[in-house]
Amino acid sequence: TWTMLNVVEEQVEKIREQVGEGRAICALSGGVDSAVAAALVQRAIGDRLTCVYVDHGMMRQGETEQVRKDFEEVFDSLDVVDAEDQFLTALAGVTEPETKRKIIGHEFIRTFEAAQVRVFGDAKEGETAFLVQGTLYPDVVESGGGAGTSTIKSHHNVGGLPDDLNFDLVEPLRALFKDEVRAVGEQLGLPERMVWRQPFPGPGLGIRIIGEVTKDRLDTLRQADAIAREELTKAGLDREIWQMPVVLLADVRSVGVQGDGRTYGHPVVLRPVTSEDAMTADWARLPYEVMEKISTRITNEVAEVNRVTIDITSKPPGTIEWE
Ligand code: XMP
Repeated sequence: TWTMLNVVEEQVEKIREQVGEGRAICALSGGVDSAVAAALVQRAIGDRLTCVYVDHGMMRQGETEQVRKDFEEVFDSLDVVDAEDQFLTALAGVTEPETKRKIIGHEFIRTFEAAQVRVFGDAKEGETAFLVQGTLYPDVVESGGGAGTSTIKSHHNVGGLPDDLNFDLVEPLRALFKDEVRAVGEQLGLPERMVWRQPFPGPGLGIRIIGEVTKDRLDTLRQADAIAREELTKAGLDREIWQMPVVLLADVRSVGVQGDGRTYGHPVVLRPVTSEDAMTADWARLPYEVMEKISTRITNEVAEVNRVTIDITSKPPGTIEWE
């Protein structure tokens, strides 16, 4: 039978074969997929692995500090790269979702190439550079890599890769679904908060701003998102809800009233879903008290937002993220 112990042993063996005496860097996002991939590779090649976390400026409130803290407990070497300017400059003026995804995927790779040189020095003649990614089976399918499928959206680590990729990819989770990855993570003894972290897409808040991505808009969305997450946690719903993106409709404005004054602000959309594997999803029936709390707090505390709406579309026909 195919147990998680088998998966670990088999993948560790395969990684050793692929990487040989070489060295690898792992693209760590803070999520469970890349954490499990990194842990497998660390088991296979030990300190010849360096983990790289890119802060592209589109992470959530407090996320980079939290990731640093959590991951330094588990991994020997963690390289944190501040790439906010680089990513936001590359995204300036861009509104089309697939273009955003391609740009972000591209900038990720360029950042990893630079990290590779910084950590290991220039490659010797004929030496292979290995990049570990936590790509899952659904990422491959939805990016159009599965048999008989078309591209739904280019996940940053699959369809978003540049054509002139200078890395050999190490992707030990490519055949697995998220629940299996979590089981492997538990098998490897990773901390619970890492294994059960809700999914967050590699392109981050950049694909949750409908319209151009700017620093101000990111700050607005970060505030709204932090409130929504805090209330979801307080309500004890973190495990029940697969994830709850908050989407900023940055190109839409509506009229409101606050105190005696007129407001003309932006709506946010709450997108709570339940799911088994993210391939399909149902909109989550959040308790009214939780919705009320989130709505009141966001409109009171986030200056630019004067309306909170909720997305009640299943997947299909919607996708989980709006872009
Ligand atoms: P969709 O929007 O396709 O999302 O229904 C399915 C799941 O995948 C996550 N997602 C991504 N994860 N890179 C990632 O690492 C990406 O480019 C990406 N796009 C979507 C999404 O959050 C959901 O869990």
